[in-house]
Amino acid sequence: MNHGLNHRLLTTRPAPIGIFDSGVGGLTVLREIYRQLPNESVLYFGDTARLPYGSRSPEEILYFVRQILTWMAEQGVKMVMMACNTSSALALDQVQGEFPFPVLGLIRPGAQAAALRGKRIGVIATQATVNSQAYTNAIQEISPTCQVWEVGCPKFVPIVEQNQIKAPHAHQTAATYLRSLIAANIDTLVYGCTHYPHLAPVLTSILPSTMQYVDPAVSMVAAAAQELDALGLRSSVPAWSTEFYVSGSAADFKRLAVQWLGHQPKVSQIRLPELAVQPQS
Ligand code: DGL
Repeated sequence: MNHGLNHRLLTTRPAPIGIFDSGVGGLTVLREIYRQLPNESVLYFGDTARLPYGSRSPEEILYFVRQILTWMAEQGVKMVMMACNTSSALALDQVQGEFPFPVLGLIRPGAQAAALRGKRIGVIATQATVNSQAYTNAIQEISPTCQVWEVGCPKFVPIVEQNQIKAPHAHQTAATYLRSLIAANIDTLVYGCTHYPHLAPVLTSILPSTMQYVDPAVSMVAAAAQELDALGLRSSVPAWSTEFYVSGSAADFKRLAVQWLGHQPKVSQIRLPELAVQPQS
């Protein structure tokens, strides 16, 4: 059940920043928020009942994102960061301006960081993100001389969500996905899906030691900090502990998330009919 709104109104806590992902990928963005914006309270939504997003159609992703942002508006967020590249690639342009708070995505900040750092850029991402070519377009718009190789890695999200990062097949799968990027002699790798930084130990053990890594969350959160300042929305009081909401099992999310959070999070399930909004025609 969702008691977040009433509770917040009763206690007049400062408005949170909303972040969402299909699952635990958003925790890699949350980690950056804790580092760069320690006073900001966060409302986290994981759409675990409908993951993975990476095999969804652009229409489905846009529909899910509108539902989530509508729910977040009801919770009184002051800003939303999409902690999901697939949503950023497929839905950010459409939803920006539809809600009474700024909505930030990962693609442009990630592309900017990548174009600053390298010339031969590999992007690993979900198949939906790769199909959109959002990273290639954004990087080459910023720096037309950059070459970009995008590789869809559909097996990575299940590996992370099923807590199999340390299993031998995680390493084999990564080696297979990275083969063409190594052959292309990339100098920079973009984590084009927020689940993938969880696989960093595996990926860095396979790639050459000279590789530069771009986690778009670092730049998106930096951009969010600037925007909060520009709008006079930055919190000056300590953050309350992050509230987690999921569409699937709260117990499963709790069990998985604890290893990255270092503590047992408070997780509530929201039933999908409560995310009430009509499909766009
Ligand atoms: N973590 C998300 C992303 O950054 C979505 C992964 C998925 O559900 O396929 O793309």
